[in-house]
Amino acid sequence: MCGIVGILGATPVAPLVIDALKRLEYRGYDSAGIATLEEGCLTRRRAEGKLRNLEARLSEAPLKGLSGIGHTRWATHGKPTEGNAHPHATDRLAVVHNGIIENFRELREELVADGAHFDSETDTEVVAHLVTREMRRSNDPVTAVAAALPRLHGAFALAFLFEGHDDLIIGARRGAPLAVGYGEGEMYLGSDALALAPFTDTIAYLEEGDWVVLSRGGAEFHDKDGAIVAREAHKTQAGAFLVDKGNHRHFMAKEIHEQPEVIGRTLSHYLDMANGTVRLPVDMPFDWTKIDRISICACGTAYLAGIIAKYWFERLARVLVEVDVASEFRYREAPLPKGQLAIFVSQSGETADTLASLRYTRQMGQHVLSVVNVQSSTIARESDVVTPTLAGPEIGVASTKAFTCQLAVLAVLAIAAARARGHIDEAREKELVRELVSMPGLVAESLKLEPGIESLAYELRKASDVLYLGRGTSYPMALEGALKLKEISYIHAEGYAAGELKHGPIALIDEEMPVIVLAPADAWFEKTVSNVQEVAARGGRIVLIGPEGAAGRAGVEALAEVAMPAMPETFAPIAYAVPVQLIAYHTALSMGKDVDQPRNLAKSVTVE
Ligand code: G6P
Repeated sequence: MCGIVGILGATPVAPLVIDALKRLEYRGYDSAGIATLEEGCLTRRRAEGKLRNLEARLSEAPLKGLSGIGHTRWATHGKPTEGNAHPHATDRLAVVHNGIIENFRELREELVADGAHFDSETDTEVVAHLVTREMRRSNDPVTAVAAALPRLHGAFALAFLFEGHDDLIIGARRGAPLAVGYGEGEMYLGSDALALAPFTDTIAYLEEGDWVVLSRGGAEFHDKDGAIVAREAHKTQAGAFLVDKGNHRHFMAKEIHEQPEVIGRTLSHYLDMANGTVRLPVDMPFDWTKIDRISICACGTAYLAGIIAKYWFERLARVLVEVDVASEFRYREAPLPKGQLAIFVSQSGETADTLASLRYTRQMGQHVLSVVNVQSSTIARESDVVTPTLAGPEIGVASTKAFTCQLAVLAVLAIAAARARGHIDEAREKELVRELVSMPGLVAESLKLEPGIESLAYELRKASDVLYLGRGTSYPMALEGALKLKEISYIHAEGYAAGELKHGPIALIDEEMPVIVLAPADAWFEKTVSNVQEVAARGGRIVLIGPEGAAGRAGVEALAEVAMPAMPETFAPIAYAVPVQLIAYHTALSMGKDVDQPRNLAKSVTVE
């Protein structure tokens, strides 16, 4: 959700804080702010809207301080106004916060009764006043923070800067990530290593419940009981990843076009290319033959990757799979027989509901496997085994390359499970691996369809509603198509299993509403075609995404046909993701929408 940063610098830190915030803007972008110490005095600049507004404010009224904290916000409590923007401050300190303080109402009443004056509608401001009250008692920032933290309920990461303390930033982590970066006579704090990548590649992570005292000389870590603890610093790869758009107009476009490369990279991590077989780089801490049931849990697009994987695991490995939206699963109290497998799919590895579900399955004695893109994330660290996606940083809010890489990893796992359980022989394994290895090339072929999709998008932008249909693995792809389109174009869209058409959505079909049908040449093709005819018979405007000549085979006249290259059917969703993504991208673009930072959304959802 929100992004936070803190820097104790050797030169004025405002430009560095802004640089770090740019790399954190994917977490939230409805307002931003910075506080520095100007000759010992806390000074703030805050602005509503995107970071560029804060930059404009800083160029009118620059800050020169050598110590500072910054924030980019995704509003939870209080509208995204300047007054609610972080840092929140008192005469003693300024604080930036990512997460939610659940008991802020009680604390606020208590602090108001004690004479505190609140300026904002946020939950964060109670933290500022609570620590300030402790400061008045002890006059020591470290003692004050240590005394205040146990009073806070909820999930959060915090960074504090104190009036008159030029060589001090205090950070705290409970349920939201926080990284410490080591520089030469400079120290950094940030929501992730990527934010700090321009300054340092030496990073230590706070563990759950930790808080840290930074000075230019180093970091002193404390655990939740206050004891001083060691947290090892590691070299990260984050700096190796360029966070720029290359020749593309948007991160989303760049990330869509990177897919052949990153899917290939991910697959080669899991396959023995010389033998044409699966070679998992880590041993599974369980026996596939003892698994009767897999629970897959995730949110958003990652959840839809999970549904596609269900088809693969059930068909290939003959194992029952349940897929759940994490926000439902975490409170459903599903009975899970001990010793089964739970798989968590997450790009960020920090999604609050997915993490809570992981912890539930652990309590229920499940083996915990995660498919994550950020290997230093909490979900990765709390899993028994991690099978990462090697997609590189994904910045566009709408997930694209992370999704197809998740599919690649889940496909490999399904093949591994099928082989281990004796449902496929070596020859079939090699055939499936061959098919999988052909997918990056087919994704590249599919990207060539972009000009036609651009023209189609010009038509779609006039629609107020769009229906996506598909069967089999194209059903979750239909859900993904609808999700993508509504996320970034704000056109209302729904995805349906094509066989469900008659049970409701057919009532919506008229000459206005586009119906996008995903019909790869697979086992379900003929059935899907029958549904297409039902739409045509009611005057529906059909967009058919399928093999060359699919509309002719269906005997219907389509508004548009997206003719996909011929491909092996099992893993077709990996390539069919491309037209689905491009339709959403170009429709949103032709409507003038902010593709990378759509309204109200955030990339990393660390609150429930
Ligand atoms: C947000 C993002 C989606 C993403 C979902 C799950 O809603 O906008 O793109 O699919 O969170 O995030 P995760 O990091 O767990 O994959």
